[in-house]
Amino acid sequence: MATRTQSRPSNRASSSKSSSSSRDRSGSSDRSSSRSSNRSAFSWGEGAGPVIAAAIGGAAIGFAANYGRKFLMQGMEAAAGDWDEILANEHDMALAIFDKMLATDQTQSFKRKMLFMKLTHALDKHAHEEEMVVYPALRQANNETEADQLELEHGQVKTFLYELEQMGVEAPNWLEKVREFRSTVAEHAHMEEEEVFPRFKQSMSEEQNDKITAMVNRDGFWMA
Ligand SMILES: [Fe+2]
Ligand SMILES: [Fe+2]
Repeated sequence: MATRTQSRPSNRASSSKSSSSSRDRSGSSDRSSSRSSNRSAFSWGEGAGPVIAAAIGGAAIGFAANYGRKFLMQGMEAAAGDWDEILANEHDMALAIFDKMLATDQTQSFKRKMLFMKLTHALDKHAHEEEMVVYPALRQANNETEADQLELEHGQVKTFLYELEQMGVEAPNWLEKVREFRSTVAEHAHMEEEEVFPRFKQSMSEEQNDKITAMVNRDGFWMA
């Protein structure tokens, strides 16, 4: 396993957004032939206020619940340390899902489907963090070749996900494909953990390191 460097406390930037909206309810027209009512078919009824309030309240609760879920999920990972340690932990988690997939047999369709969904989400979040933060930072530090190679390998990961999706969990060669997939991911993770990331980390200032850590955490938060 990779030799991890000492952790520093991570900073995580958080932002809050506020929005407001207003609705003009005074748009009824006198030109309508149905003068008996000065309300259009789309105007809000007398008793609509509480319904609208409940709908807005429901949306707010849903948003808060999702925000809380993300905070919980990412909060645990944010405690894991610097950007390279966060990413190495995610490699371990993905490989552990692969191992569970490889321990299934053809009769466990549901379990296979659930694990495949979990793996897809884990790899998607992980790739997003690397492709949106770490690889661009690598390119900025004149390591374009390495960044391009790693991103190309992410393309292979997506191809494996596509092929597994197409073949279905009951395919006779499903395990074989998962095994091949795991070994590709393990090799890619090894390259990152043992070669690219340590070298890159060594070359950066503490401030830069903290900035990349905060950006990886923020990206992971929105992808969680
Ligand atoms: Fe990667
Ligand atoms: Fe990675």
